Amino acid sequence: MQVVTTLEELRRARRNLAEPVGFVPTMGYLHEGHLSLVRMAREECASVVVSIFVNPTQFGPHEDYQQYPRDIPRDLALLEKEGVDLVWTPTPDIMYPEDFQTWVTVEQLTVPLEGKHRPGHFRGVTTVVTKLFNAVQPQRAYFGQKDAQQARVIQQMVRDLNMPIAIIVGPTIREPDGLALSSRNTYLNPQERRAATVLYRALQAAKDAFERGERDAETLRRIMREVLTQEPLARVQYVSCAHPDTLEELEGPVEAALLSLAVFIGKTRLIDNMLVGLGRDTWPPYIPEG
Ligand code: PAJ
Repeated sequence: MQVVTTLEELRRARRNLAEPVGFVPTMGYLHEGHLSLVRMAREECASVVVSIFVNPTQFGPHEDYQQYPRDIPRDLALLEKEGVDLVWTPTPDIMYPEDFQTWVTVEQLTVPLEGKHRPGHFRGVTTVVTKLFNAVQPQRAYFGQKDAQQARVIQQMVRDLNMPIAIIVGPTIREPDGLALSSRNTYLNPQERRAATVLYRALQAAKDAFERGERDAETLRRIMREVLTQEPLARVQYVSCAHPDTLEELEGPVEAALLSLAVFIGKTRLIDNMLVGLGRDTWPPYIPEG
């Protein structure tokens, strides 16, 4: 496994990789969610590249950029075991040299949900992912359903900008009690960790209701809020039943939806989601034409 930092080293190493190249962008502090994407890439591609970069531009001024957990030696040991070919660990000044002034923005899809509560977040994500794609030049890239809006936004960007990259979405990997794996779970104390299962329980309650025939969007949101209210450590930021294509809030009867929520457990902001009515647990892959 080769580990590189500079763009020059990355480009040199990239030239020797067998194609198709599969790429998994990450912010590190890897867990089984990240590793499940690496395994998908390993099965489907001749070479696998992983990037580790805590991207400052996708964090708001009062968010956790400084505190975000980092452990590169541990991450590299995990990736080595998965048979990864190349790991790229750029620094902030490589990605954002002085006088950086070009941004990629996806418009409507970034307005609701996370976009509403994290202004500028998706502009940072789409810009860094474009830069990572331009450097790595993968044929396929892998994202998690855990960040459902992010995956949809990246698919839209790749399509709109004619990037010749397939975007594959892997299922959300959960702890045995349902909590979605996240690097941010390390912020939770033991009491908060127990409370955090309320996100999964709220989503599952609404999904169960949908599967028993409940179709009213507001009723599905109310079911989630009722479960969340039972947990004293939980402070709800949003609860959503949204159109799976536009991510706009639905009213009245729904055929299919993205159920999603953002909840503070103490000071830690957690997100989770489930798809209903689509006959699948993840967004379909985006495959470029030609
Ligand atoms: P990060 O949070 O490190 O996540 C990297 C990838 O792992 C993302 O595609 C995310 O959706 C996926 N992932 C995280 N938790 C998961 C889980 N429990 N199950 C399945 N997949 C999971 O997302 C980012 O980094 C950044 O925004 C990035 C795309 C790297 C741009 O900076």
